[in-house]
Amino acid sequence: MSSPILVTCGLPYANGPCHLGHLRTYVPADIFVRALRKMGQEVLFVCGSDAHGTPIVVNAEAQGLQPKQLVAKYHQHFHEVFKGMSVHFDFFGDTDDPACHNRTQEMVKALTEKGYVYPREIELAYCPKCERFLPDRYVEGECPYCGKPARGDECDMGCGRHLEPGEIKNAVCKVCGGKAEYRKQIHYFFKLSEFKDFLLGYLETLGGTASARNYAHEWVRQELKDWCITRNMSWGVQFPGHNELVVYVWVDAPIGYIAFTEEWCAQEGKDWRDYWKDDARIIHFIGGDIVYHHCIFWPAMLKGAGYTLPSAVVASGMLKIDDKKFSKSRGYVIWVKDDYLEKGLHPDLLRYYLASYTAHNKEVNFAWKIFAEKVNTELVGAFGNFLNRALTFTVKNFEGKVPQGKIDPEVNAKIEQTMKEVVFGLEEYEFKKAVDSILALADFGNIYFQSHEPWKLIKSDKASAGEVLRSCLQIAKALIIFMEPVMPSKMEAAWKQLGQGGSASEKPFQEALVPLAEGQSLGKPEILFSRMEEATVKELERVFRDRIEQAESRKSVKPTELKEQISFEEFSSLDLCIGEIKEAGSIKGSDKLLKLAVDIGKETRQVVAGIANSYKPEDLVGMQIAVLTNLKPAKLFGIESQAMLLAADVAGKAVLLRPSEKVETGTKVR
Ligand code: MF3
Ligand code: ZN
Repeated sequence: MSSPILVTCGLPYANGPCHLGHLRTYVPADIFVRALRKMGQEVLFVCGSDAHGTPIVVNAEAQGLQPKQLVAKYHQHFHEVFKGMSVHFDFFGDTDDPACHNRTQEMVKALTEKGYVYPREIELAYCPKCERFLPDRYVEGECPYCGKPARGDECDMGCGRHLEPGEIKNAVCKVCGGKAEYRKQIHYFFKLSEFKDFLLGYLETLGGTASARNYAHEWVRQELKDWCITRNMSWGVQFPGHNELVVYVWVDAPIGYIAFTEEWCAQEGKDWRDYWKDDARIIHFIGGDIVYHHCIFWPAMLKGAGYTLPSAVVASGMLKIDDKKFSKSRGYVIWVKDDYLEKGLHPDLLRYYLASYTAHNKEVNFAWKIFAEKVNTELVGAFGNFLNRALTFTVKNFEGKVPQGKIDPEVNAKIEQTMKEVVFGLEEYEFKKAVDSILALADFGNIYFQSHEPWKLIKSDKASAGEVLRSCLQIAKALIIFMEPVMPSKMEAAWKQLGQGGSASEKPFQEALVPLAEGQSLGKPEILFSRMEEATVKELERVFRDRIEQAESRKSVKPTELKEQISFEEFSSLDLCIGEIKEAGSIKGSDKLLKLAVDIGKETRQVVAGIANSYKPEDLVGMQIAVLTNLKPAKLFGIESQAMLLAADVAGKAVLLRPSEKVETGTKVR
């Protein structure tokens, strides 16, 4: 066997939930690893949480958490979602692990000793009001290259360039919104410019997707500035010898790949150097937006510190939703846990979609309609239909045993050709090509079954019918083995239906050509894929539309228009008090209204309130709220409402007004 391969995936920032854009990288990487193993290759597959950097600190501050707590929360989340999606890492670490701190310090020291790190005085954005320097995401302004709005360390709305500290123009403090000034400070730089010739040569030989290689090559050819690798923060990996500085997150994040390898090796009693020194093979799967970091910063650091260089960088194309650019703030996002897994949808269907929609380096468009169409035609109609036909026919007519007879040479040839295409596709990171070939084999199977008419043959020539089925079952076996990396759990179930022992995941591709034993019993045929019904698609689309609408209305909240002035007497005519919710329940037939019993001191009123989409009944009981008690009663859904709760109207959602501390029920509001 050749030496082991290390496969990694870009580390998700542990500052928000997993969305479909993440899976665009992780699912194909997982498929690739499973396929490598089927080709007899020893592989280590690692990933982990990216714990440092300003986005984490900013978000933690906003949520009232310590960065460490925020990271723990999302680390756990990603861990669960990956499990739910059958994305199986051998090790899923965290860049705040001691192993990562240590390895980072070791590498920075090595680079410093070799003279690749030097101090330089630079001008940095500083907020006089907050009395602090503004690293990365703490500052917003304009890109010095293209003039578009930019934030911190990247020009995310314009040219996409990495921005060095102090480069951003017209800087504004993200925390207080005040104008930033520029102040001098000493920072440490990595001599990236010295690696220009090395990188030009290295990139020529780099494997993976051509787009990554070519972009990086062009950037290096144009200009390579030295890279500021320190920041004024406390959260992160301390810069050796400087208590007040941490390293830039893009220094320690990729070092996580090494640290996780070390951690896994320590656990398994192996030597991590086998993966990071000498002739190791390292393959990085990343999103298309972090090519610069993986093809320029990272190889230069590895080279400078004396580590093995990555042999391939595989960059995935971006994800669009309903043909629109993915955007959390505009609502164009699909959350993997809430919108997919928790809706009871099977992970393998989404894995199939992501692998088969388009070439890996191209944009993927996701829409529920297309999802349903792919499931219904390709998985139910072609793939599942063939498996089911071959199995049920055998069960019905051959006592559920593999019939005797010769496997059609044409069938064997087709299986062999498919295997070559699958292996070739995977080696080229062309996952779609591989999946398309498998689907073509399923189509071939359906046509084979149809044109040989075993249902007629069985009456006149049972032996010939048996040969047809033996060939079909062999196709079924091949389909399951080939498709297993893409749809691991569905194919495991299919493998059982085919009556095979062991696990489909352990069968090498070659096994597809080994004839099923004559007379071997099949398992019980069951429907593997079921149709996605129109109503389900509608419901999934509704959730998505609602999110976009909410995002839009959130943006368009204008200050409420001012009404005419009223006198104090007019105001005093309102009977306002603090009530306490005693009971709360839903109202049959309405998904907006809740029925409440509200204690207002002297009595209890029945109230119908439009707050069902903002609050759960059980969370309301015991809550004190502001109530208007002398509004004329009105009937809603046939139920009389005898008071009105006061609430802020936030994009159609109600946010109840509550006293800032507990008061006696019935207390007047003035
Ligand atoms: N957290 C980064 C992002 O989401 C990716 C880090 S990849 C690593 O863009 F290689 F640096 F770890
Ligand atoms: Zn400020």
